[in-house]
Amino acid sequence: MHLVVPIYIQVSMIIEEQIQETISHLYDEKKYDHLKIIKSLAKGVFRPMQPVDFKDVALSISKEQGKDLVQLIEQNKLRNIVEFGTSFGISTLFLAQGVMATGGHVITTELIESKALKAIKNFKDAGVSELIEVRIGDALETLKNHSEPVDLLLLDGWKSLYLPLFQMLENNFHENTMVYVDNADMVETQVFLNVVSQNAIYQLQPKFEGKAVVITIKK
Ligand SMILES: C[S@@+](CC[C@H](N)C(=O)[O-])C[C@H]1O[C@@H](n2cnc3c(N)ncnc32)[C@H](O)[C@@H]1O
Repeated sequence: MHLVVPIYIQVSMIIEEQIQETISHLYDEKKYDHLKIIKSLAKGVFRPMQPVDFKDVALSISKEQGKDLVQLIEQNKLRNIVEFGTSFGISTLFLAQGVMATGGHVITTELIESKALKAIKNFKDAGVSELIEVRIGDALETLKNHSEPVDLLLLDGWKSLYLPLFQMLENNFHENTMVYVDNADMVETQVFLNVVSQNAIYQLQPKFEGKAVVITIKK
């Protein structure tokens, strides 16, 4: 008996494979980031750190977090995804994998042009460019006047901007919106989470031993 696999399933299987290959290549590159990160941090001895100090490092979420995000998107049928902090696009590739199943799309934004350009190349390599809109610039500008509903907001950029960005996009939230906050254990993120937790409409669920927190709207 011949099993005929429909063409659209074959295409999505090929793209899933390309996504996995691109992600694992990027994690391989990341293995050598330790030294670069130490050099970047050293700049902070003389002046406050800036995003450009990390222009050569991915600073990405872990593979486990990526898989968790894919599950979150698929299980909750999330379609309109907004990401703050693209870097080289590792997390964005996981988000793209999720929206392939839900028919959604991803808007991601990155301040450092060279990082965004590298991410754009990675999205081409993975065959998911059509699912992702990359906005280059300061997220407070690139996401200003955002008019679509937000199903999932991934906060993974400069921590002091979590609160103003959250407040800027809050009008686009709805009862099923999820906000995934990375680096929840950092001091500046804790300040942000404290402010959010004071609003009774939100509930906060820690993940990965507090490295991340998912904010949802109380039903
Ligand atoms: C932790 S990295 C993002 C990692 C990425 N989400 C991943 O997991 O692969 C944070 C990124 O946010 C970017 N960033 C910092 N400030 C920003 C701003 N104001 N607007 C947009 N992006 C910003 C940094 O340049 C950096 O690449």
